[in-house]
Order: sequence, then structure tokens, then C-alpha cells
Amino acid sequence: MDLTITLDRHSSLPLHQQVYEELRRAILTRRLLPGQKVPSTRALADTLQVSRATITQSYDRLLSEGYLETLVGSGTYVCVQLPDDLLHSTPVAVATNSQPLRVQLSDYGDRLGQTLFALQPSPMQPISFRYGQPALQHFPIALWRKLLSRYCLANSDWLDYGTDFQGYRPLRQAIANYLGRARAVRCHPDQLILTNGTQQALDLVMRLLINPGDRIGIEDPGYLSARRIFHSHGAGIVPIPVDEAGVIVEKLAHLDANSLRLVYVTPSHQFPTGSILSLSRRLELLAWAQQHPCLILEDDYDSEYRYQDRPIPALQGLDQNHSVIYIGTFSKVLFPSLRIGYLVVPPDLVSLFAQAKWLSDRQLPTLEQQVLTEFIEAGHLESHIRKMRSHYDQLRQTLVQALKQHFRERVMIFGEKAGIHVMVKLRTCWSDTEVIERAANVGVGLMSAQLHYFNPCDRGEFIFGYGDLDEAQIVEGIDCLAQVLGT
Ligand SMILES: Cc1ncc(COP(=O)(O)O)c(C=O)c1O
Repeated sequence: MDLTITLDRHSSLPLHQQVYEELRRAILTRRLLPGQKVPSTRALADTLQVSRATITQSYDRLLSEGYLETLVGSGTYVCVQLPDDLLHSTPVAVATNSQPLRVQLSDYGDRLGQTLFALQPSPMQPISFRYGQPALQHFPIALWRKLLSRYCLANSDWLDYGTDFQGYRPLRQAIANYLGRARAVRCHPDQLILTNGTQQALDLVMRLLINPGDRIGIEDPGYLSARRIFHSHGAGIVPIPVDEAGVIVEKLAHLDANSLRLVYVTPSHQFPTGSILSLSRRLELLAWAQQHPCLILEDDYDSEYRYQDRPIPALQGLDQNHSVIYIGTFSKVLFPSLRIGYLVVPPDLVSLFAQAKWLSDRQLPTLEQQVLTEFIEAGHLESHIRKMRSHYDQLRQTLVQALKQHFRERVMIFGEKAGIHVMVKLRTCWSDTEVIERAANVGVGLMSAQLHYFNPCDRGEFIFGYGDLDEAQIVEGIDCLAQVLGT
């Protein structure tokens, strides 16, 4: 059989990969027909002047993927029944770190390529202290389902495109009212842009306000996902240290501050240390922003769960100069897959943000926006938050007590006044990786705080999320941990 395969011996793509791709392409383009016999591995190796192992490797992959089949004693054939989708679709090249890409990437793609990270959930252990996990088992599903079905059946308008570029107007009104009551945010509903969570809010801010090379100040340690978005847009990142009163604003004075375009902060419960930005520092930060051509990006993460003292008003509500962009989300107070968050932007930026959102992904699903509107207006949101606050408070106290009881002077706990995680510094004779491994061996999942620092190194600091655990699990988890870490 005459089968032309061209190999590029100077390519960094391994030969077995090239043979595999050539044969697959020949099958998909019907140069090789279903049922047609292909050369033996020995014959093809001779023709191409490569080792037989190279051809065997390519054939094995084609066999396992269903492109080829072997008939015992007869040889290897193109599968008679190729799945339809293989014949009709263009093969998708899956980029892995070991395979150089054959396409020309944009600068954005290049930057992502340089910092590719595994998009996979953190491995689960029987007791995992995962951060950012709300107690989904307490979500009022029956009520949500009732509202969904009521709005679903009321009419069919929700099936169509929405007409509001900024998000469903009644929902914006409900959120603006809620933010005014709960967070002292001062905004008109027309300043709200509804987004697919905080993540999209940050992305839109980058698109509209940041050019590659622009500098952004961010807390150190700080929220890794935010840093990744900033980096993906080519921003230069300037770390600003954090202490027990939040980001150290006076450090801004020592920077070439005029070159900063944005400062990203998490004042309600600094991520990951959990410190709460004091009122004096809030005012200091706003005063600084007023004197510089720089906006404050306030991610009001975890503001709903404050356990001691009265909540401090959001920076946005204290600001007199439209120098704050405020971001909030329903991921933690309701559920993460809802994917509804919001931006409150200064009035002169509203139409730009609305367009950017519309161009990016049109809109959020209307049905969920309608349901959430009623959920807020009927008071269910605030009553759910109240209920969960006392639930999380109980879990938090159990965790703190268990840690102190077992680790005594070898533990320091940060950020326990708010949120659904604490940061814990453990003094042990193990490295951070060893602590995590030892914990995993007894079925306890731990996450290091390392990655959230600009200079990741062993500090013995771990983020203990407790939101989706119960008290018994917390006690058992800390007990197991104490045993393997030899307290
Ligand atoms: C600091 C911070 N902000 C926001 C979020 C929520 O992100 P999203 O609204 O995209 O779910 C998280 C999630 O863990 C977070 O840690």
C-alpha cells in the first residue's frame, strides 16, 4: 500500500507523535478509508527509516483511540465504524507542556502559556480544610426550586436575550438597596454591572483600564486568582505588605506611586491572612488615592461574615471622589455555580463597562436573575446570611479551640474575626509539603498559604477553610493532624 507520510526530523515534535498525527489526518480526510489495511509496523518503520518502536507507539495510540483495529492473524485496519464526530469534526489539538504549539498565539496567549497552571480541583480527603467552600448543604434548595419554577412558568420572556446591557434592572435595584443597608455602599442601580462572579469583574476591569506594562499594587500575600488575571493582561505587579490591620498603606508612599494605575485590596477579610483593614487605614488609603492618578479596586470578599465588632463601611461608601471600583459576589453567601457577581463603577465608566460585558458574553441567564431578585427583596438573602453567620461562628470557635488545645504555643491563628477560613501558622519540624503529605496520609486535606505570597517559601502557614465541614469533622481533623505532626 502506498502511504505518503512526511516526517520532519528537525522538529521538536517526537517522531511517534508525527506519525500518529499524519495517520490520524489521513483517516479523517479519508485518504485512508474505513476497513482499509494499513502497513505492518515493520514495513512502515522500514519505509520511513525509523525504529519499529516508534511506529508501534503511534499505532498503539491510534488503536486505543478507535482509529485502528487489529484483526488477529490478519493485520491492522482502519476502523470500519469510526465515530461520526471523528469524521465530521476537525481534530482538536490539546496543548500540553510537553508538546510545542503549532499555532501563533497572541501576546495574551503567550503570557498564559508561560504560566500555565493545572485547572483541576484540589484533591479531596475525607476531611478537607478547603478555603472558600460555603456550607452548601444548608442552602434553601426547596425555596430556590419553588422560585425557579414559578418564574419559569410565569411567561417565556426569560428565554430571549435580555434587553439590559448592565444586567436585569430589578436585580440591580435589589442589590443596590442591599449594599446600602449591609455595607454602606452608596450607589445608584445604574452604577451596577452584573458579572459572572468576581473573576469576570476583575477581567473586565483589566480590559478597560490596564495596558500591558501598567502597574497594579496588590496585597502580599494576596489573592492568587486576581494576581493571575492581572498577569495575564501583562500588568506589572507591585507587592504591598500586609499586617494585622490589613494592607500597610504607608508603604504606598515609598513606591513610585504615580506609576500605579490600580491598587487591588480585600479590606473586609484580607485574603489569605484574614486581617480587617482598620478605619484609619481605609481613610488613609482613600486620601492617598485622591492625590494620585490611581483607582482602588475593592474586592469586598467575605464582608458578610463578621463575628466580633461592628462591620466597617466599605471603602466605596467612604469615598467622596469616585476613586473606588467595588466588587462583590454571591458565590459564598449563596452558591458558587450561580456565577452572579457585580461591579459598582464610577458613573463615567458605566457605559464602557456595560459594553465590555455585552461584548464579552452578552448577559447572565435571566431566569436566575429574576429568582435572585425575589430572593433578595423578600428578605431571604439576609435571613440566610444571618443563619449562616451563626453556623459559621460555631464552626470557627470549634476550630480555634481545637487548634489551641492541641498545638498550644506552637500555633498562631490569624483572621478569625471574619470569613469562612483562618490562616494558621504551625511550628513543626516538617516542611510545608511534608505537613501536607503527613496530613493527607491520615485523610486530612490542608492547603498551604505559600502560593499567595510573591516569594513562596516555607513559612508553616496554612489556610484552614471550615465552611463546608461540621463540628465533629473539625475536631477529628485537628485531632488526626496533631497526632501525625507529633504535638
Ligand atoms: C479574594 C476572593 N475574592 C472573590 C472570590 C470569589 O470569586 P467568584 O465570585 O469568581 O466565585 C474568592 C473565591 O475564593 C476570593 O478568594
